[in-house]
Amino acid sequence: MLENLKPQPADKILALGQAYRADPRADKIDLGIGVYKDASGKTPVMRAVKEAERRLVAEQDSKAYTGLLGDPAYTDALRDMILGDAVPGDRVSCAATPGGTGAIRQALELIKMASPGATVWLSAPTWPNHPSIIKYLGMSMAEYRYFDAATRGVDFAGMMADLDQIKSGDVVLLHGCCHNPTGANLTLEQWQAVSDHLNAKGAVPFIDIAYQGFGDGLEADAAGTRLMAANAPQMLIAASCSKNFGIYRERTGMVMAIAPEAGMKTVTQGTLAYLNRQNYSFPPDHGARVVTMILTDPELKADWMAELEAVRLGMLELRKQLADELRKRSNSDRFDFIADHRGMFSRLGATPEQVEKMRVDNGIYMIGDSRINIAGLNAKTIPVLAQAIIDAGV
Ligand SMILES: Cc1ncc(COP(=O)(O)O)c(C=O)c1O
Repeated sequence: MLENLKPQPADKILALGQAYRADPRADKIDLGIGVYKDASGKTPVMRAVKEAERRLVAEQDSKAYTGLLGDPAYTDALRDMILGDAVPGDRVSCAATPGGTGAIRQALELIKMASPGATVWLSAPTWPNHPSIIKYLGMSMAEYRYFDAATRGVDFAGMMADLDQIKSGDVVLLHGCCHNPTGANLTLEQWQAVSDHLNAKGAVPFIDIAYQGFGDGLEADAAGTRLMAANAPQMLIAASCSKNFGIYRERTGMVMAIAPEAGMKTVTQGTLAYLNRQNYSFPPDHGARVVTMILTDPELKADWMAELEAVRLGMLELRKQLADELRKRSNSDRFDFIADHRGMFSRLGATPEQVEKMRVDNGIYMIGDSRINIAGLNAKTIPVLAQAIIDAGV
């Protein structure tokens, strides 16, 4: 049996991390994998998470199974954090999942069950795991234009022209905020236009929100998702707590399915429970419980929000510093887009050859499509990166 297996393609982002670790240069710079790092290069455990874990260890008196959908206190709290009061809770089915990736996988499986012929539309580019899972599930997919290589902003005219091709019942995957890998995001007016267009076409929005709180703030980052949820008869959402709670390895996420009416919730929620049962039975609980404790305890929540806000402002400051540095060194404003982008990533628009040159000459590691992790920078490395970008001829 095992002799029939073929090597699978290596994950490019993880392979880049290996290459970085193998590089002996002391001044190498890692701008690869999408993990937040503070100025000292560490990915810290957030204060509120530490405190919640301390309480959990002291107070938890059972590790018996939770529900198949996870603890309702968790799914309610996270639902409210993401959706606010955009849509009545009785239309929203929720299931806890292993991370945002688990949520994406469950949402896609639900789409496959409910609408096997649907095409899932992805932004070009998108997070590579999106097409990879869709391909693995044997579903049909298509791309819509998203990134404008000239302005490094959103090619909104191209996006809308491509979304004109969607058919009733198709699914359109959108990044809720902090688009990965580009950093370029829709304005609220554009969200509205996309939402109206999908409704007119009878298409279903599917929002992947993995960086709420990393862009313009916890509420502002959910605004597009909420607008669409208030407007769409049906919608799917995959959420991750990996980044905004800094609990990457705890695998904490949630899938939500918004039905047109409350009467459909029993079957929709039952289907999510069924899918959890088939794939891994009960979802992980530790991270979910920590998130619940933080979101439902005013003191812990305030501390978490303050730390998240400091993380967000720190990344904005790094963006500004890099854009300023490039403005000076290039004698132009052509890199100002870095300060306009939001979230952990920016796509520089460098060619693969230029990316390779920066790796060879300067020990700077970024994804081959020139995505940089802004959080990988600090005051010392910003001038080095800026000069390398100029020297590479970007
Ligand atoms: C766009 C996007 N969606 C979802 C995820 C899921 O993250 P996780 O499965 O670690 O929660 C990520 C993580 O990098 C991401 O970038």
